[in-house]
Amino acid sequence: MLKVGVIGVGSISEMHIRPYLQNENVELVALCDINEERLAKKGELYGVSQLYNNYQDLLHNPDIDAISICTWNNTHAEIAIAGLEAGKHVLVEKPLSMTVKEALAIEEAVKKSGKVAQVGFVRRHGDNTKILKKFIDDGDLGEIYYAKASYLRRLGNPGGWFSDKSKSGGGPLIDLGVHVIDIMWYLMGKPRPVSVSGNAYYKLGNRSHIEHLSFYKAADYDATLNDVEDLTNALIRFENGASMFVDVSFTLQAKEDETSVKIFGDKGGAEIEPALSLVTEKNNTILNSTPQVDNLGFDFEKSFANEINHFVECCLEGRETIAPIEDGVEVMKMLNAVYESAKTKQEIYL
Ligand SMILES: NC(=O)c1ccc[n+]([C@@H]2O[C@H](COP(=O)([O-])OP(=O)(O)OC[C@H]3O[C@@H](n4cnc5c(N)ncnc54)[C@H](O)[C@@H]3O)[C@@H](O)[C@H]2O)c1
Repeated sequence: MLKVGVIGVGSISEMHIRPYLQNENVELVALCDINEERLAKKGELYGVSQLYNNYQDLLHNPDIDAISICTWNNTHAEIAIAGLEAGKHVLVEKPLSMTVKEALAIEEAVKKSGKVAQVGFVRRHGDNTKILKKFIDDGDLGEIYYAKASYLRRLGNPGGWFSDKSKSGGGPLIDLGVHVIDIMWYLMGKPRPVSVSGNAYYKLGNRSHIEHLSFYKAADYDATLNDVEDLTNALIRFENGASMFVDVSFTLQAKEDETSVKIFGDKGGAEIEPALSLVTEKNNTILNSTPQVDNLGFDFEKSFANEINHFVECCLEGRETIAPIEDGVEVMKMLNAVYESAKTKQEIYL
């Protein structure tokens, strides 16, 4: 039985709490949040009686084996390191941290602790990803040399801490780009990034004046402060010659929202979002194929359940996680280099 505590009980914590409650090998023993009202409400809703305002107090509880960190990005490193030092297994939401320095400090703490430490790269756990990964591992795409993703919201700056750079570390790149950059990099076989060229635009602000259109908001939505970019694009080159292009936005004068992730190899190609499909050629003919599976897209709830169950298995059975901290470090290097390139208007060499 794994005894778990969840730190930060805002929006995304639901996707951790519910699968923990459904997992028969888990006992959800504690919740923590600095917002007392929200904490009390969630405690009551989920029947959890150990409620902490301070994560340090939760970590002092020797009964707790593992923690999920679902707090603002600026607290991930501090809580992850404290958790590992207290002997807990750690699942930390994406992005791993705000800076590479913080990410490396977490990696160091993982090495010292010998505990399971997993980054919340939830797309790695999607059934669509798992299906495609098997085709890639079987060589069906050949050598993957290009990947391209767009994660564009026309109106979707979540406000609150998300748009306060001191708490989030940045805008759509660190919040949305992290997902698609990671999933492409993972499916490409995790090549070493060597150079990054990026642009960040601060043209539209959060467009909080727009009426009659709803969008995702932070638990404590507040539109008054916004010092993060609204659009970022980037070209990342890898040691093996492969490259990746990505564009992401919180606000954009786009006709509609767009999420697309595509991977191209010399034997075949694939789209993983919005829906899984494979492309290849045979007998001088191009074939587009659609796997016959229950869900071709990214199933948000199922992927989180897969992620949580994988973390639990790793903790209880001593297995290696498929989303280790060192991968979080590499992704942070790419994200930070994009921001650095945008700031200096130059290509950054890693
Ligand atoms: N994997 C995904 O798809 C996904 C989706 C959304 C958010 N996230 C990540 O999850 C994290 C939380 O995002 P959210 O949307 O739930 O935000 P949120 O604002 O809805 O919730 C965050 C909660 O953390 C609490 N908190 C902040 N600092 C704390 C501290 N030091 N100790 C205890 N509690 C603290 C806040 O009071 C709040 O209740 C972020 O890192 C975000 O990037 C991941």
